[in-house]
Amino acid sequence: MGLTEVRDFSLAGWAEPDRAEERARGYCECLEEGNILFFAQTPFSLPESDRSFLLNVRQTSSAVHKNISYKPDRDRVHGLTPGNADGEELLRIMRSYSQSVTNFVRQFLSPYRDRWHLDFASYRSIEEEDRDLPLQKRNDLLHVDSFPTRPSNGHRILRVFTNLNPTQPRVWLTSDPFDLLVRKYGNPARLNHLASESRSPWRHVNRRLIRLTRSLGIPLVDRPLYDQFMLGFHHELKGNRDFQENCPKSRWEFPPGSTWLVFTDTVPHAVLSGQFALEQTFIIQRDALLLPHKAPYRVLEELTGVSVVD
Ligand SMILES: [Fe+2]
Repeated sequence: MGLTEVRDFSLAGWAEPDRAEERARGYCECLEEGNILFFAQTPFSLPESDRSFLLNVRQTSSAVHKNISYKPDRDRVHGLTPGNADGEELLRIMRSYSQSVTNFVRQFLSPYRDRWHLDFASYRSIEEEDRDLPLQKRNDLLHVDSFPTRPSNGHRILRVFTNLNPTQPRVWLTSDPFDLLVRKYGNPARLNHLASESRSPWRHVNRRLIRLTRSLGIPLVDRPLYDQFMLGFHHELKGNRDFQENCPKSRWEFPPGSTWLVFTDTVPHAVLSGQFALEQTFIIQRDALLLPHKAPYRVLEELTGVSVVD
């Protein structure tokens, strides 16, 4: 398949009970094929007072925190200036947002319902245009997502975005999905390395050593082969000037108040401009996928002939 499409569900009556499960399977397949599902209006509860509050929140300028983040498992918010008086109210709003968007996804994408790990939510209050970030953290360069500190082991990264900006769109570029992208831009040496590491008898010994080191309190990331490749691919794409300049591109404007869902480990994306967006990440279990052959881990297994997940 070629470039990502944006499918508009604003008027599709997605919440009608008639054939709900069948339609939900269609939505999941559409996402897994590398498309973006779009709603012109926010399809879950997000009170006007909460939106107004968020538009006035200012995050810390620290380079440590790219966004304000909410960690559902710890019920904590990170990224505000220490001692900021908004902290308690922000925590309440992010908790409420996270629960609200999760309930929506449970219904809209019912085949995935609770077959996920609820990852971080984020509030992106900083204007993306001309943002000064290190290369690997830049949002304006096309990339597929891979989290340096939270390996997925081939489980999928589904993200739900909402543009809170009352007047300005959030502008994205996308390009060919992962299965085409990796065949054209995947580094052959690293694909070979992936295959030889998978066959190596030392692979499990090395992982056990890392786990032992972690148990001693040393913060090493226990990164499966899949994540080693994907994180490297993320960095390579951002640093590849030929890819950034010459790959086929689609430009999308997500208007104020809209919401969109996308597997960001499949769809290469870049944010050209926009300020004030909410986002919740779901790590969808591999065995919940309806089109597993489209998943990046399966594409890598097809290319290398070896297993790349634990
Ligand atoms: Fe991203």
